[in-house]
Amino acid sequence: MTVAGVACICVSARIHLQKLSSKYQHVKCFHHQCCARRNFVSQEKPNSGQINVTLTGLVSVSRRHFHKTQRRCLAQVIDGRSISAEVHNEVKADLQTLVTERGRPPSLSVILVGEDPASQIYVRNKVKAASLTGIQSEEVKLPASVSQTDLLTTIQHLNLRTEVDAILVQLPLPPHIEERVVCDAVTQSKDVDGFHVVHMGRLLSDVDTILPCTPAAVLEILRRTGIETCGKKVTLVGRSKHVCLPLAILLQADRSKLPTGGDATVTICHRNTPQELLTQSTQSADIIISGTGIPRLITGDMVKEGVAVIDVGFSMSYNHDTGKSKLVGDVDFEGVSQKATYITPVPGGVGPVTVAMLMKNTLRLARGDFRTLPVYM
Ligand code: GUN
Repeated sequence: MTVAGVACICVSARIHLQKLSSKYQHVKCFHHQCCARRNFVSQEKPNSGQINVTLTGLVSVSRRHFHKTQRRCLAQVIDGRSISAEVHNEVKADLQTLVTERGRPPSLSVILVGEDPASQIYVRNKVKAASLTGIQSEEVKLPASVSQTDLLTTIQHLNLRTEVDAILVQLPLPPHIEERVVCDAVTQSKDVDGFHVVHMGRLLSDVDTILPCTPAAVLEILRRTGIETCGKKVTLVGRSKHVCLPLAILLQADRSKLPTGGDATVTICHRNTPQELLTQSTQSADIIISGTGIPRLITGDMVKEGVAVIDVGFSMSYNHDTGKSKLVGDVDFEGVSQKATYITPVPGGVGPVTVAMLMKNTLRLARGDFRTLPVYM
């Protein structure tokens, strides 16, 4: 693919390329983080001071897009849907081997308590992804008024059914039900969310274990996009037990002991972090991961040039002008994408990859990947 001009390359990379191009006819630029994986090669010496660029790398320039305001988006927008499709395809291929070996596909049971609209959408997406991947699934619906005892009995039945490989209880639960008790009621060998206290404990102990799907999705996005975490400063905004906290543990972990370890320097900010300290932490971060559910919490002035931003936030924002609501993340996309090197959109970023990681976790449980780990009661 040949691109005339360099409008799509970050400004500093352009200067770098231009400097080099005055000396060389053919230039490989691996200097800047933003273009290192793209393997730009100059083709000819331009008359105008600009150069023509051949793209031989993995990332297409067309991914960089212009926003509604026509302000240029300098960041590469990470396409969660295509990463999700890649993971789904890998799961499908591995699933075939499992079906040949044991004669039946993996199976996932999803428990939905109540009628929370967001949870209904999540569960529908999970069941749909399972059917597309070839995983058998069932949805167990319980009323919001169900007692904790009855919910625990339902989980116990699923624990005992041998044809069920994986169990997920959709969160949040109604206020009269204790989330921790429910998460610990799912037997460890079927705990597809990795929310059981033993799995959380293993995370802390550098033991390879089933990872919660959203943290697993963030790691997958970083890995597949080529965003290195070793030696980098990562700021996590949010301290949720199922997303930001496991991510903090994984990202700081020693990679020589745990393959998923990130070897990063990690800072956690939360609702009690003063705004000044939050801004200081985000401005100095190489990677920002935000999962608070507060729209536009992270703005352009809070980030440095070249940062990678992963938006795990998920909330509905009401537009008074149009009278419509739309799904938004924590990050002011328009402002932050002017400075970031990589950014995930909402929707279409972390969400689809999280569902794909659920499929992968289901397959891993069905295959018995963690069978050798002791079960604690
Ligand atoms: N609610 C929102 N995200 C999740 C998730 O990853 N797992 C479960 N069980 N509930 C959720």
